[in-house]
Amino acid sequence: MCGIVGAVAARPVSAILLEGLKRLEYRGYDSAGLAVFDGEQIHRLRRAGKVRFLADAEQAAPLSGSLGIAHTRWATHGKPTEDNAHPHMSGEQLAIVHNGIIENFEPLKAALEEAGYQFSSDTDTEVIAHLIDQAVKAGASLQDAFLSTVSQLEGAFALGVMHKDFPGQILASRKGSPLVVGVGMGENFIASDQMALLQVTDRFIYLEEGDFVQITLDQVSIWDKTQQLVERPVKVFEHNLSVAEKGEFRHFMMKEIYEQPEVVKATMQGRITEDRLLEQSFGNGASELFDQTRQVQIIACGTSYHAGLIAKYWIEDIAGIPCAVEVASEFRYRKHVIPDNTLFITISQSGETADTLAALRAIKEQVLASLTICNVPGSSLVRESDLSLMTNAGPEIGVASTKAFTTQLVALLMLTVALARRNGLSEEQEANIIRGLHQLPSLLLAGVRLDKDIELLAQDFAEKNHALFLGRGPLYPVAMEGALKLKEISYIHAEAYPAGELKHGPLALVDKEMPVVTVAPNNALLDKLKANLQEVKARGGELFVFAGADKIQQEDGLKVRQMPDVPEFLEPIVYTIPLQLLSYHAAVLKGTDVDQPRNLAKSVTVE
Ligand code: G6P
Repeated sequence: MCGIVGAVAARPVSAILLEGLKRLEYRGYDSAGLAVFDGEQIHRLRRAGKVRFLADAEQAAPLSGSLGIAHTRWATHGKPTEDNAHPHMSGEQLAIVHNGIIENFEPLKAALEEAGYQFSSDTDTEVIAHLIDQAVKAGASLQDAFLSTVSQLEGAFALGVMHKDFPGQILASRKGSPLVVGVGMGENFIASDQMALLQVTDRFIYLEEGDFVQITLDQVSIWDKTQQLVERPVKVFEHNLSVAEKGEFRHFMMKEIYEQPEVVKATMQGRITEDRLLEQSFGNGASELFDQTRQVQIIACGTSYHAGLIAKYWIEDIAGIPCAVEVASEFRYRKHVIPDNTLFITISQSGETADTLAALRAIKEQVLASLTICNVPGSSLVRESDLSLMTNAGPEIGVASTKAFTTQLVALLMLTVALARRNGLSEEQEANIIRGLHQLPSLLLAGVRLDKDIELLAQDFAEKNHALFLGRGPLYPVAMEGALKLKEISYIHAEAYPAGELKHGPLALVDKEMPVVTVAPNNALLDKLKANLQEVKARGGELFVFAGADKIQQEDGLKVRQMPDVPEFLEPIVYTIPLQLLSYHAAVLKGTDVDQPRNLAKSVTVE
């Protein structure tokens, strides 16, 4: 999704802005631009495509100036062309960057056209530039013009504005889209997330919904949605800069797959002892809320939704509590019957997904409490939920989620233990799960070590146009996640089915051009799955099976890769690894843009 960077400094800002845009590339975008004020004029440069095209253009014709705003655009209104790229300007005097969607832009545009404004793009953003300009021309200060414009906008947005006649400042605001202020020494910044600014500061102010901010060289002034001047805390973002570097890896996605054995330790650290869960990890008051919980409702999107589907099996099997799971974009727009004492759980890597956030806001008052399982501290979901459990996976840069997913599962398994304690889970059973969690890093490492072998398997995929993924029980959502990974990054069409549904349709598709991938661990459903495999084989389908040691034998048309022996409740986490590797290698063989697949965004901050 779109990314914003802005800087007010006593030094040239173009390089800071371009570096910020590069660091936001992971969010997904299709054009980029920047505008810099040199004390006399605003100079703008925009390019369709990658930030490196913009950086090359800037190198050829440098933009000097110590005040600037920049943007990566993920097209919503209008094609990803240079004309539609941000910053947008009103005349020569004002430049604006915008993340989000202005729903009422059409009537606003019509009124502006009537007043004589000419539009040079198809975007909704350009109306904001002209509205501010119109108010300034009518005599308002930039601040008043900005505020009166924002009050007319419906939809979701984060904005950054600079004006030639009001030098030395950037005005910004957020409503529904994320925005942080980076606090420097004699310089200040804005950005869509802190990743964009880690090269210049580690001190951040996380803006609240409706906040309006003015940054100058030495001051950050914030007004809340009631226009009261407020103080927001400055938080130090503790990070290791290497998290944002690829290191020895060719792609961030591969680095993140390999990080999983380590990052799951961070998810568990300080939250479990040798054999017990430390329930206070869920925050103050969590134990009392878990005591009252009779039903769980999980909401999420994309990969996080698949984590929720797996958690449903755990929560119902292990904790014996009813659990419903739904994608946020459906949930938010329908009527609900919410039973009493429902714990409402959102799962999100970014904590900013627009649909998930809207679902939380819609239901908050009707539930016992809200808990978010999230990877980004200070994100909107974390701030707006009653409880939060951070997954601690560290920044995930590859658009296709990997380590965020497995750490979400670890967090959800810990939550399951907390709920199950109240529903008959014995100390011994709890100890068994916790000891299993301690083994997880080495089990994931064994999965990652299949890498070279899976790279060879992937050769059979790279030429295919379709693939089918099968699983049973909690391994069905794992198959769904495997199919999603494959389509996201290799653009091979993939579908997942519960293996038992094979005969009810998908079997008609099976022939030698349709590889079938199955996750077949060592559980009670294995024999049923074996029968499904024979059905595929009999139709000439080529099968790729990830199975427990010695459970299924390799034979013609059946390629088996043995997985380590895994306690049943950990199977969904460990069996995810080979499917991530398979998609990764298929995509590399196809030569796609693995870390930034076409049309996709990391953080979907618009509906
Ligand atoms: C986008 C990303 C996915 C992610 C989904 C939900 O589609 O590309 O990787 O799973 O959003 O994002 P969230 O941040 O809420 O987990």
